[in-house]
Order: sequence, then C-alpha cells, then structure tokens
Amino acid sequence: MKIFHTQSQLRQYLHLQRETGKTIGLVPTMGALHAGHLSLIGESKKHCALSVATIFVNPTQFNNADDLKRYPKPIEKDIELLTAVGCDVLFNPDVAEMYAEGETWDYEVGPLDTLLEGEFRPGHYKGVTQIVHKLFSLVQPDVAFFGQKDYQQYLVIKKMVSDFRLAVKLVPCAIVREADGLAMSSRNVRLNDAERKQSLALYNTLLYIKDNFGKLSNAQLEQEGKAILSNYQLEAEYLKIVDRDNLLATDDKLNAIVLVACFVGETRLIDNMMLP
Ligand code: PAJ
Repeated sequence: MKIFHTQSQLRQYLHLQRETGKTIGLVPTMGALHAGHLSLIGESKKHCALSVATIFVNPTQFNNADDLKRYPKPIEKDIELLTAVGCDVLFNPDVAEMYAEGETWDYEVGPLDTLLEGEFRPGHYKGVTQIVHKLFSLVQPDVAFFGQKDYQQYLVIKKMVSDFRLAVKLVPCAIVREADGLAMSSRNVRLNDAERKQSLALYNTLLYIKDNFGKLSNAQLEQEGKAILSNYQLEAEYLKIVDRDNLLATDDKLNAIVLVACFVGETRLIDNMMLP
C-alpha cells in the first residue's frame, strides 16, 4: 500500500494512475478502523481499479473539544488492517496540510443541518462537508463510499454532490454490527463492561420498532422505544421515525427509517434501521 502525507504527492500519483485508465474509489475515514470501515474498502475494491482510503481526524466537524482530544489514533494498526484488505493508497495528512489559517467555508447545508444529529451537533455537517469537499476535489474519485451507520451524513453529502454538480457517484454501504447487534464504531472502545451491556439497548430498540412497524402508530412506537431505552437506564437525545429522503416525520410505510442517538456513560452512540 502506498502512503502519502501531502496533497501534492497524492495528486501526482493519482494523476499517473488515472492516465492508465484506472477508476478511483475513495473511502474517507477518521481512522481507528474496524470491520465497518473495512467493508467500505471491500466495496470500493469491487467497483474500482484503485482504492484510496483517507485517515484524517477532521477538527472542524467536532463540536466537542474533549471528543476531538480523546479520538483514538492507532495509526500503525490501521495501516496493518488496510494492507491486509488490499487497500491501494492511504492518504494520512496532518491538520496544517488540509487547512489554511483562518479558512472559512460558507456552504449552506440546509434543513438537514438542523434536524436530528444537526440539532445536537451544531456545525458538525458544516465541518463534514468542508473536509469531504476538499477530499473530493483532491482525489477526484469516480466513486465514493459512505456507511449507512451515519445515514444523515450520507444524505448531507448526497445533497452537497448535487448542489455542486460534482462528478462523483456515491455508494451507501450497509451497517456492520458486532455479533450481538451493536453497530461498530470507533468510539465503542471507550465503553466499559457495564456500558457495553447497556449499549445493546439501541439495537434492541430499533429491532422492536422494526418488528412492530405498521402495527402501532409511529408516535406509539417512538414512545415504547424510549421505554425500552429507559429500562437500560438510557435516555435518547432523539428516537425518530422519519422519511428516508428528508428526515421529516412521515406516515409513509414504504420509505421510512428509524434513527436513534444516545449517550451511554460519556460515549455518544448513534444507530438506525430501515423500516419495515
Ligand atoms: P468515520 O466515523 O471514521 O467513518 C468513516 C466511514 O465509515 C463513514 O462513511 C461511516 O459511515 C462508515 N462507518 C462507520 N461505522 C460503520 C459501520 N458500523 N458499518 C458501516 N460503515 C460504517 O464518518 C466519518 O468518519 C467522517 O465524518 C468523514 C466522512 C471521514 C469526514 O471526516
């Protein structure tokens, strides 16, 4: 696997690869890789001749300074994992390589910026679009791969691609879970044993709602879902059944999704499930 730390070296290398007619797949990540991230590399390898992963803990998308400081950075292990799955290129820049001093980004994300995650993480999607736009213009991928674990992020990026008329195809990839159902996340390593047990509440709540979708009203399902969470001593920041395209409340039985966010101890977890 080729590893680059500067934009100019990566650009030069990709230019030569593109000249040989290779299609380029991009998998942006913040590292601390797990099987969820690696599944995106696997998808990229299926679709594209050359797969580029990026590892960059993007400061502009963190609305909590402590979360940024504590974000895990096991770069040696990440390199081993990427090599093992046959990733072709890793781009691992530092902050100064990606951002100029005092840089601004005025893209207006729109309604998705204030709903659900947007409400609880103000400015988060501004930072996500800022870095993903930079990575798209640097790598100029034919295809970019995003996990449905961060479903709202996928929708935001889809809107940005449409707004800027970017020539990149987006591929959403299924959520990879632990054997007991917990959605894999780089933040799961912060859970202690008791919290790890509590964290199962999210998956169980989503399963309950999926199993009963259409039998009870959405309002009842959301209420009962919150009751399941409280049995595990958890309180959701949000637990909502919404339209898959715009994340607004819906009675549509064919295009719904349920999304949840919840602190387990100090660790904020999110998850979602397509309905029915
Ligand atoms: P990160 O949280 O590292 O996630 C990188 C990619 O992996 C995202 O597309 C995310 O949805 C996907 N992913 C994470 N957990 C997953 C799981 N359990 N199953 C499937 N896919 C999963 O998302 C980001 O980084 C950043 O916001 C980024 C897009 C890199 C911009 O900084």
